[in-house]
Amino acid sequence: MSQIDFMNINGDELNLLIDKETIRSRIDELAKQIRKDHGDGTLSVLCVLNGAFVFAADLIRAYEGPCEITFVKLSSYQGTESTGTVKMAEKIPCNITGKDVLIVEDIVDTGLTMDYLLKIVKAQNPRSVKVATCFDKPSRRKINVPVDYVAFEIEDKFIVGYGLDYDGLYRNLPSIYTKNG
Ligand code: IMP
Repeated sequence: MSQIDFMNINGDELNLLIDKETIRSRIDELAKQIRKDHGDGTLSVLCVLNGAFVFAADLIRAYEGPCEITFVKLSSYQGTESTGTVKMAEKIPCNITGKDVLIVEDIVDTGLTMDYLLKIVKAQNPRSVKVATCFDKPSRRKINVPVDYVAFEIEDKFIVGYGLDYDGLYRNLPSIYTKNG
């Protein structure tokens, strides 16, 4: 394995959970599944910033069909805890009415973010809406939200890397680490 299994950065202990090769092959599989389910029409990908930018970049490059991508900026986290209040910085910057929308999220945790976003997206009358998340923590759910595609289901642990951060750090790590300390 090419990754470092353990890192201590400024007192944050990071332990390898999912290495980058495993992520890569799972995302290839997921992209094929989405393509098979969706067919030949254009897929309108809605990438949830900040965390999903790495996953979305890999997913769309593995997706062998026509797709367009737009970004929405949402946030509910401070440190390792959700503030419980989801905020959206601005309106969805494109017309999704009548389109087949795939919301691409980094992780579904309490479900509050996805519940909030789904309401906004559905209000614009897309033809269909599906949700793809790289990571899912079902044991943490506060609201039931439909999740159509999950790359990895994980336990109740705070993870960083592959786009996910702790107070702005670690998004650039290519593998997934659990954070203690
Ligand atoms: P939810 O609204 O509680 O489902 O949280 C969704 C958002 O919380 C995600 O888009 C992430 O930005 C953040 N989040 C939840 N769990 C983690 C984690 O383990 N590491 C980093 N960010 C997380």
